[in-house]
Amino acid sequence: MAKAVRLDKFLADAGAGTRSEVKKFIQKGQVQINGETVRRPEQKIEPDGETVTLFGEVIGAAAEFEYFLLHKPAGCVSATEDARDKTVMEYVPSKRKGLFPVGRLDKDTEGLLLITDDGALAHELLSPKKHVAKTYFAKVSGIAAEDDVKAMERGVDIGEEKLTLPARMEILRTVQDGCAENPENAGEFLTAPYSEILLTICEGKFHQVKRMMEAVGKKVLYLKRISMGPLTLPDTLEKGQCRPLTEDEIMALKSTGKTPEDKPYR
Ligand code: URA
Repeated sequence: MAKAVRLDKFLADAGAGTRSEVKKFIQKGQVQINGETVRRPEQKIEPDGETVTLFGEVIGAAAEFEYFLLHKPAGCVSATEDARDKTVMEYVPSKRKGLFPVGRLDKDTEGLLLITDDGALAHELLSPKKHVAKTYFAKVSGIAAEDDVKAMERGVDIGEEKLTLPARMEILRTVQDGCAENPENAGEFLTAPYSEILLTICEGKFHQVKRMMEAVGKKVLYLKRISMGPLTLPDTLEKGQCRPLTEDEIMALKSTGKTPEDKPYR
């Protein structure tokens, strides 16, 4: 059961107007609770159990939190505001205050980014103790080899106090020669040799994937996050598209890190 909230806050959160506008509606007798006209903005209501009407129309309770999955394109920053660059918030189809990106993808990184106003969930997902797995598809310079896979598994030195936690690397293919346009990024050319890999990490340090690949002598040429915890980037979500999470996705996210399988490196 949702907790009781002030009537003016309930109406404002549901998009019926600003807090001062809805106060006026209430004081003028334009709001009813269960058919009874009320005139006190501070009156408490139970969003689950009571019917609120404004000008005779039922006002539904706004969801407590919003959750969006964005396919971040390159060229925008993972911030709510920026003086210079476009931010990821420009792609979000909601103007609700308090929405923010959960973690950061670099300006040139693409892929899955969760946007929400659920601070507690974001905190859980970003907590270094939770080891939430994130998988990246990357194109890296040079020829990736079994030695690199082993190094990622052991942990590499990226200039922090400790080695990185074990990471899973899969080599998808290597391109030995030639120069071709990057199908992921029109106008950008990739010169062989280069390799395509998947890397799953359970940490979220600044530029982590780029620094891990650098530790084995490779430069990241292209980077895209394809999953975070139970969320995967759908093939149907184009770059720049953003959609609300489904109920199942929200539930799966909320239980992330709560089962032993979710904590591979504990
Ligand atoms: N690792 C990086 O190097 N960059 C990102 O954007 C995400 C992970």
